Amino acid sequence: MYLLSTDTLKPLNKIYDREDEKRVISGYIDMAASIAVTGLRRVGKTTLVRSLSAVRKNTYTAYFNLWRKKPSCRNFEPEILDLILDELIKSRGVVGEREYIKRLEFFGGIVKITREKREHIIERFSIADIIASNNKIILILDEFQSVSKKLRDCILRKLVGLKDTYDSYLTIIFTGSVYSLKKFIGGNEEAPFYGRLIDEILIQPLQPQTAREFLREGLRELGKDITEDALDYAIGVLGGFPGWIVNFGLKSISIRDRIDIKAAKKLIKDIEKEALLVLVGEIKRILKQVKNKEIYIKTLYELGLHGNMGPTRLASMIGRTKSEASRILNFLTMNGLVKNIDGEYIIADPLLRRVAGRKIFVKEMISIKKQ
Ligand SMILES: Nc1ncnc2c1ncn2[C@@H]1O[C@H](COP(=O)(O)OP(=O)(O)OP(=O)(O)O)[C@@H](O)[C@H]1O
Ligand SMILES: [Mg+2]
Repeated sequence: MYLLSTDTLKPLNKIYDREDEKRVISGYIDMAASIAVTGLRRVGKTTLVRSLSAVRKNTYTAYFNLWRKKPSCRNFEPEILDLILDELIKSRGVVGEREYIKRLEFFGGIVKITREKREHIIERFSIADIIASNNKIILILDEFQSVSKKLRDCILRKLVGLKDTYDSYLTIIFTGSVYSLKKFIGGNEEAPFYGRLIDEILIQPLQPQTAREFLREGLRELGKDITEDALDYAIGVLGGFPGWIVNFGLKSISIRDRIDIKAAKKLIKDIEKEALLVLVGEIKRILKQVKNKEIYIKTLYELGLHGNMGPTRLASMIGRTKSEASRILNFLTMNGLVKNIDGEYIIADPLLRRVAGRKIFVKEMISIKKQ
């Protein structure tokens, strides 16, 4: 595995930097504290949390990607077991044990995981069995913000029950790309998880200097050399987002020689094209929650075209009142699309910042919306 691999389950030495985050999250796992890990898209939340969980001894991880699939709340325990089997098979390969062991240990005995046995295992064993044989469990609920309120409350109630039963044997980690997961999880006294979330850890993009070193080092690992000005240019565009940097790094394999500024510009052009479609898809998903989508699209377009602005200026650009402009900006901020710096709003993602002010962005947003 390489630094610039796209996997979200990596050996820890292939996760660049993040020493503080690794230490803090590991500390909470030691204490079986329930935490949230948040941050903008592509900063590396999933990778950190999955990879840190995978290296724990006598610990099984159930990784829920709630964007991809919504679990059945009624059958929550069997779903957990099913995911533990999945993650176990993947993580043992990553952690690099000599043998690729696909097995689950219960009561000192070993159950080999085969396709036929899988259902049998899920039917026969429970979380209680895993814990009774002195193993711990980490539940990762990735993209938790994407779950409807009804399912969310049901899952949270189940989690409270599991946590009360298994206590220090169970760690629960929520992750998500919204501004804050806290209010989704235990915002008010009636919320099932109220008072149980110990901390929310915000993962920031890498500092420019660290991002530069990450790309340089990652390319070196792939046998690629890059000039200083190409490095500056690439990081200037991609920011400190490992997701975009990995994308650049992998694309650079297509360049025969050293990556100079000309090659870097070509690669960025390609990435922009792809990123536009990815971003349009993501924004479309976020805007499903609102009625008047055009005004949000126009807001992003204006922010892309003119850069930072406050609600007063935005209001005049989109022909709305200041309070409406504030409400729109607030929604975009809560969903991680925009960030507020001293009262001025700026598009958070560096590539979206580049493309949102183009006609093609609006065209793609509208064409997708009509589908
Ligand atoms: N510190 C890092 N070192 C090396 N690669 C990283 C690092 N952080 C993230 N990556 C890589 O960047 C990509 C994006 O990471 P990841 O999917 O974990 O981000 P995320 O914050 O969960 O994004 P999303 O909100 O889109 O789910 C992955 O391919 C991952 O391998
Ligand atoms: Mg993720």
